[in-house]
Amino acid sequence: MRVLGIETSCDETGVAVYDTARGLLSHALYSQVKLHAEYGGVVPELASRDHVQKLLPMVDRALKEAGTAPSDLDGIVYTAGPGLVGALLVGSCLARSLGVAWGVPSLGVHHMEGHLLAPMLENPRPEFPFVALLVSGGHSLLVEVEGVGRYRTLGESIDDAAGEAFDKVAKLLKLPYPGGPALAKLAEQGDPKRFKFPRPMVDRPGLDFSFSGLKTAVLTVLKSAPQDEQTRADVARGFEEAVVDTLAIKCKRALQQTGLRRLVVAGGVGANRRLRARLKEMTAALGGEVYYPRPEFCTDNGAMIAYAGCCRLAAGAVTETPVRARWPLDSLTPA
Ligand code: KG4
Ligand code: ZN
Repeated sequence: MRVLGIETSCDETGVAVYDTARGLLSHALYSQVKLHAEYGGVVPELASRDHVQKLLPMVDRALKEAGTAPSDLDGIVYTAGPGLVGALLVGSCLARSLGVAWGVPSLGVHHMEGHLLAPMLENPRPEFPFVALLVSGGHSLLVEVEGVGRYRTLGESIDDAAGEAFDKVAKLLKLPYPGGPALAKLAEQGDPKRFKFPRPMVDRPGLDFSFSGLKTAVLTVLKSAPQDEQTRADVARGFEEAVVDTLAIKCKRALQQTGLRRLVVAGGVGANRRLRARLKEMTAALGGEVYYPRPEFCTDNGAMIAYAGCCRLAAGAVTETPVRARWPLDSLTPA
């Protein structure tokens, strides 16, 4: 089975062709980062308009690079949510129109299911079941995964998502958008011992997260600390340590609670080098293993959507879904 996958849920246009026998045949990615940078965050209307301009030529290119004609396709899959509705509509309208024009089925995919299954594009790929940590700009979730569509949320952020916390603290540090990678870079020069920020909610049982208090703690320190470069780097490092520690403690707890030993990390924050190193140590100490997608498949991309949609189509999924801003992962049905 061969599918074309389309991702337009936020500020990345992603297109890919995935084949069940041959794997990923092509993928194209365009980031709107520069477009939104001067506003300090994603402007939904600008995002939609840019997807309209970029998407069709990228579909053309991805098909050419994959040596694939429309008649070779068994399906066109697209992100149906959660995300910015205007942006999602661009991908869904094109996918469904091409589906009608080329006579192939189209199918809406859950964006977080795409992130969650992204490590399946790598070699070695994790076996089911596993615990997944999904940490992106909009979500922080710990999920027990038994198979495609068989998800049980173990814990989630009760306020800011991990990526959102990175972005907000980066803004306090006057770093350019998107904040996560810029903050991680600044933190490399920082002293991890100078500022000790709280590890929110680790002293209570449970697997939920909270990051907004951490952001307030950073703000309080910044108000009284000297404004030199080294201090900014030390604050960035202290903050990064606090987030990484918190996530590692919760992941360890989730593995212990479920009795599972495989951990999968997905979503934009999964590109963070310090988080990757810490989780590797933690899982190794438990006799387990951690799996990541390559960094470019941690952030939004078309390959993960093509893969997730292909699993669903191969299992016989046919029902179309309307695009939606919110869509709980637990509401998905097994493939
Ligand atoms: O998954 P993603 O591309 O988009 C969403 O679906 O949200 O994640 C983007 C988030 C942003 O908040 C960004 O700041 C964060 O991931 N991020 C990072 C790093 N790279 C991206 N956070 C920390 N360290 C990084 N290296
Ligand atoms: Zn995402």
